[in-house]
Amino acid sequence: MTFDPLRERGIPLDDQLRNWRELNVTPIDPDHADPYTRCRIITMNGIETEAVLFSHQFARHCPDLEIRQQLARVRYIEAQQQKVVNWLLPGVASVLETTIAYEQVAVDLTAWVARMEPDPYLKQAYQFGVLEDFDHLYRYANLYEMIEHRKAEKIVDGLTEVMPGRPTYRHHRDPMDNVRQPYDRSITEPLSRLHALTVMSAEQQTMNFYNNVGPLYMEPIARQLYQEIALIEEEHVTHYESLVDPGESWWEMLLNHEYNECYLYYSFMETESDPKVKNIWELHLGMELEHLRLAAELFRRFDGRDPDQVLAPALPPPVTFEPNKGYLRDLLATQIDLTTLGTGYVGEAHERFTRMQEAVMGGEQPASERVIEDNRAISGREYRLETEGPSPAGLQPGSH
Ligand SMILES: [Fe+2]
Ligand SMILES: [Fe+2]
Ligand SMILES: [Fe+2]
Ligand SMILES: [Fe+2]
Repeated sequence: MTFDPLRERGIPLDDQLRNWRELNVTPIDPDHADPYTRCRIITMNGIETEAVLFSHQFARHCPDLEIRQQLARVRYIEAQQQKVVNWLLPGVASVLETTIAYEQVAVDLTAWVARMEPDPYLKQAYQFGVLEDFDHLYRYANLYEMIEHRKAEKIVDGLTEVMPGRPTYRHHRDPMDNVRQPYDRSITEPLSRLHALTVMSAEQQTMNFYNNVGPLYMEPIARQLYQEIALIEEEHVTHYESLVDPGESWWEMLLNHEYNECYLYYSFMETESDPKVKNIWELHLGMELEHLRLAAELFRRFDGRDPDQVLAPALPPPVTFEPNKGYLRDLLATQIDLTTLGTGYVGEAHERFTRMQEAVMGGEQPASERVIEDNRAISGREYRLETEGPSPAGLQPGSH
């Protein structure tokens, strides 16, 4: 069965507004929920946040009052969707537990996208990035054990392994080297546009989250680790956003955003294990179909093309949260030493990389290294969750 969002009927915009009672959703069960349900919630929070921010940017560049009014009406619904989605998270999880879930999203979402991406240059961008968030997960898991005396397996539930990736201190690159080449909007596969938007949105929300929660800690090592990793998430946003062709018109970008929302809600509706959450994905899909119809109208009127010229004839296979252990281990064995140079990748440190490293380290060990040493000193060993045997990277963390 194929699903073509351009040919499905959604919920009329006038019927999409929800009252307080409807916005007051019951959160998922913190102890028994499927970790991947939490991952889908975090992903959609990032997507809705991007929908709202993008619409604001659009409005700030749009001189037509009527269109700004329509953008405002749809945006208010996106804002309600964001509240419903993010308020599914139960309040009992600590900030650090939520952080570990954010990195689990970054790992298993980006790994899925890397596996499915048809364009080899874009695929490489996802493979490169995923090994970094994989390492963040390991650093935060050690911080978690150290300051909350709990183990990350409680959160990731053995679905995602926790062990060193590309060491976090080596993610601090010269900003110039974080800018990739974009896909070409005239020839790219429609799926590639969706992938880039999805991963960019997820990284953007991770950056904003760390920016905001990092200083809420009192422990110096926690404050410093969040500060360090938040700066890497800034690099990741730069890395992924630069994959999107900047020549797309505002109408085309709007169309892609709404289409991607349809794709993800449809994907998560198809794969959700929690029936109550699944109902929300289905309801929001109904809303997005109407957003897409409105965006398609604008696209026809102002861009002058038909949406069929840029969108796929049917939705690609659903984005699925599932373990990617073997795939990640292959990347660990082959891509751990990569860094970027200009818009490409190289196997060794180069001059601009080394200069940036020296400038940002200032002769000191970064928090991402100290957190492992400190946890070893306190817990007698560092924290890892290697469910498939020892790491193939053969790498001693902390040795540089
Ligand atoms: Fe939305
Ligand atoms: Fe990360
Ligand atoms: Fe990231
Ligand atoms: Fe939307």
